Amino acid sequence: MRRATILVLLIALSSVIAPLPLEALNVRGHLLKSKTFLSPAFFLHPGSVSNKFYYDVPFPRGHLALKSFNAEVVDENGVPVPLHDTYLHHWVVEPYYALKNSDSADVQKLPKGIIARNSGVCKKTLGQYYGLGSETRHTATWVPDPYGIEIGNPEKPPEGYEEKWLINVHAIDTRGAIDKLGCTECKCDLYNMTIDEYGRKLPKDYIGGLYCCYDETQCKVKEGFNGELRKLFLRYTVTWLDWSDAVVPVKIYIFDVTDTSPPDEKSGTACKVEYQVEECSPENRAKNECIDVKVTKEVIPCGGDIVFGVAHQHSGGIGASLHGQDGRLLCASIPSYGKGEEAGNEDNYIVGMSTCYPKPGSVKVSDGEVLTVVSNYSSDRQHTGVMGLLYILVAEQEQPAPKPALCFSFPVPCKLNKIINMVHAPFLAILMLILRICRVLTDMADEQSLNVQVGPEEDDA
Ligand SMILES: *[C@@H]1O[C@H](CO)[C@@H](O)[C@H](O)[C@H]1NC(C)=O
Ligand SMILES: *[C@@H]1O[C@H](CO)[C@@H](O)[C@H](O)[C@H]1NC(C)=O
Repeated sequence: MRRATILVLLIALSSVIAPLPLEALNVRGHLLKSKTFLSPAFFLHPGSVSNKFYYDVPFPRGHLALKSFNAEVVDENGVPVPLHDTYLHHWVVEPYYALKNSDSADVQKLPKGIIARNSGVCKKTLGQYYGLGSETRHTATWVPDPYGIEIGNPEKPPEGYEEKWLINVHAIDTRGAIDKLGCTECKCDLYNMTIDEYGRKLPKDYIGGLYCCYDETQCKVKEGFNGELRKLFLRYTVTWLDWSDAVVPVKIYIFDVTDTSPPDEKSGTACKVEYQVEECSPENRAKNECIDVKVTKEVIPCGGDIVFGVAHQHSGGIGASLHGQDGRLLCASIPSYGKGEEAGNEDNYIVGMSTCYPKPGSVKVSDGEVLTVVSNYSSDRQHTGVMGLLYILVAEQEQPAPKPALCFSFPVPCKLNKIINMVHAPFLAILMLILRICRVLTDMADEQSLNVQVGPEEDDA
């Protein structure tokens, strides 16, 4: 038996954590690591809301490839809390660049933190790397091999800054609520809310959504209902590999069905995140057509292979999908609803979203392609504050990068491609020649490095 075939898996598998996909065990000799953390505690009493941002949360450090992020709400004994007690509206996790030595006088004018957004198209919202809601217990986040989300690259933070992580957890306690669904849909009347968090008057037609269930707000509970104050945590498990040339980087895009600006005027500021589903008309109800279909178009700046996709919807959701310019289906993601009482199977709540894992190379999008986002809800009744988000991972590069980085790797990244396209043709010809020579040299270097490759392709033990 070769020494290199010994795989050390530092996976803390416990009965409460969903088992990793089988694929996770095939890591080509690279060390897959996993660690479980707790967010800072948050406190909820019946009907109350917590929507807090936690900065500099515990997270794996170093230049890494993220492979999965799973989370759930637990109490102080580590017991999973069901959604009908504490509704997990959402959690998001996002890196940011924090100013080092922020006390010293010469950096006083610099921002203390700069958000490191994903590659997505919404400029002000939805910049997260991962984010889910009630569906978190049964929604796969595994990034398939050989792909990974690159984090902790020491070259990335601006001078004087370092990468840190923030988590936002929005949870609504609905113990004793007079209308549990109404509280989770942030109906303004249940929160007795006419102004938002910043004292601005809400529009008359705004009857529910995030402006009415911000941090420390209170939803109506039954007279005389008593429930103890609960101390809760978001427990999250991160799985990762050390970054290496064997990992193909992926970009994160989130498309929002509420971004209704026309494709040629996309500025990315029209992502409203939430929308309202009106109850269907009596005519449609008679025809059994109580479905609300919301559609928008989005432009993906840089194309590549879609290697993962998932949607985010709220209760009432019946599926969302993403389509290419020619109408072809890129990914459809369907919610599953719980049928019981226990955490992970709560009746009438979305407890999981189906995911897309296309065969590598089989689902491609091109630079600047106009995509269509579709989000379907049941309009059997009205719904406020619902969402229709499509999250995809795109690999711009098909193969692992050539090992010694003598020059550019092929194919040329999308952004660079665009610059090259603007350059005058004769110059382009010379550039292509240089690239070709580089390619030959890189290939030669690659062949030599094969002999010193660490780790086997297959476990032949
Ligand atoms: C609702 O809000 C109004 C005005 O902000 C306040 O006067 C009233 O007492 C509130 N009602 C309840 C039940 O909290
Ligand atoms: C959304 O609804 C439309 C119209 O009923 C249907 O054709 C489509 O397949 C639905 N898509 C998903 C993902 O559920």
